[in-house]
Amino acid sequence: MHIDIISTVPELLESPLSHSIMQRAKDKGLLTVNVHDLRPYGLGKHNSVDDYQFGGGAGMVMRCEPLAALIDELKSRRTYDEIIYLTPDGERFAQRRANRLSLQNNLLMICGHYKGIDERIREEYVTLELSIGDYVLSGGELAAAVVVDSIGRLLPGVIGDETSALTDTFQDDLLAPPVYTRPAEWRGREVPAILLSGNTGAIEEWREERALERTEERRPDLLG
Ligand code: ADE
Repeated sequence: MHIDIISTVPELLESPLSHSIMQRAKDKGLLTVNVHDLRPYGLGKHNSVDDYQFGGGAGMVMRCEPLAALIDELKSRRTYDEIIYLTPDGERFAQRRANRLSLQNNLLMICGHYKGIDERIREEYVTLELSIGDYVLSGGELAAAVVVDSIGRLLPGVIGDETSALTDTFQDDLLAPPVYTRPAEWRGREVPAILLSGNTGAIEEWREERALERTEERRPDLLG
């Protein structure tokens, strides 16, 4: 999979995408991510990428021309399956969408700043708008990093244990059951005996029960 990201603050994306699982995905050639700085496409001697909004009001809006120039350039090199705009008024990002996006070949993500991008860019280019939650970030970069991470770890071969992405919380609309590692007793707290029993059938059943119990307690909305 290849992902292009348009940003006015590309530095914000460097660190989250260059560690751990993301780095492994890149090293294995399963995922390439290119962050493109919008600034050189800005207008005038200050490379301006934003302007006051028509109709008045506080907050700047990202202009059409610089975004269109960079998007057109990228589109001339690749065919994108989705052009995604990260925005608090987009579809609430969830596991189902991550699963679907992980099956695509080429994605383009646009990170907005200030009040966001001119509506006409959304109309002209954007095929999917995603929000990572009901709060406002100062820009789309951290949201893009969240989306890229959640997709990247689903690519076959990225996570060592192929099954572990599939047993995640939310993968089957249930929260994950509790997990334990050594030591078997810590500060008087014992690991549930069943997990030490070696009885894989009973362990599987226990996990399903705990997952259901936890979901009923914490996120009954997931059970529909
Ligand atoms: N940009 C600003 N806030 C955002 C959010 N909550 N989700 C996605 N993009 C955003």
